[in-house]
Amino acid sequence: MRLRGRKGIRENLESQQDIVTLDPREHKGRWAEWFGNDNPIYIELGMGKGQFISGMSVKYPDCNFIGMDMYDELIRRASEKARGIWMEQGVDLPSNVKLALGNIESLEEFFAPGEVERIYLNFSDPWPKSRHGRRRLTHPRFLDKYRSVLNEKGEIHFKTDSLTLFEFSLNSFAATGLQMNNISLSLHREGINEEHVMTEYETKFVGQGMNIYRCEVMVGNEALRKYQEHKMDQF
Ligand SMILES: C[S@@+](CC[C@H](N)C(=O)[O-])C[C@H]1O[C@@H](n2cnc3c(N)ncnc32)[C@H](O)[C@@H]1O
Repeated sequence: MRLRGRKGIRENLESQQDIVTLDPREHKGRWAEWFGNDNPIYIELGMGKGQFISGMSVKYPDCNFIGMDMYDELIRRASEKARGIWMEQGVDLPSNVKLALGNIESLEEFFAPGEVERIYLNFSDPWPKSRHGRRRLTHPRFLDKYRSVLNEKGEIHFKTDSLTLFEFSLNSFAATGLQMNNISLSLHREGINEEHVMTEYETKFVGQGMNIYRCEVMVGNEALRKYQEHKMDQF
């Protein structure tokens, strides 16, 4: 089999400017313009091969989705996935999904304050060694970045198979004053939970009988107020 070289992949991505950006800085503050509407913008950070972001874009056509990863090849695989899944719906060009090559470290350079409504963190690398704690995508230094791009309704939705990362993350959210909601210690306890679109890693881990942890984090004031009203109703 002839493997496509790095240059070939880059050329391929450059020819896909309808849904792929190799320089998300160019869209800062203007993502709505690129989507052509003011629908809420949901992003997946570290999307991998794009199963989740593609599935979400079909399931929620009134939301705009951006998948971000730092590897060309993953952006290529994700674009194939997104185009394929929309093709099955009879749509040639997906209109509510974009794919961005970028390092999450530079998130504030890619999005203007308040431009994003939801961040998905799915099966982020657990970085188990404590000296690597600052690299975990739920470390307080990343939460500051997320806070700066999320709007008033802003939330983070987080899924992982790693109990260690989950515990670390719950503590990190709490330490930065963030409230959590819909915490699940076993998302697919009663069989596949169809309500949630699965990621590649999730499909693999669930197939191996592994446990999946999930929670939602209220970041924006409006998200927090709604959550608190809802909780009050329960008493
Ligand atoms: C374990 S994989 C999970 C992929 C996918 N979310 C899933 O659940 O199937 C983690 C992904 O995060 C990406 N990633 C890790 N650190 C990143 C960073 N700083 N910026 C962008 N992507 C990153 C990796 O390239 C990889 O694709």
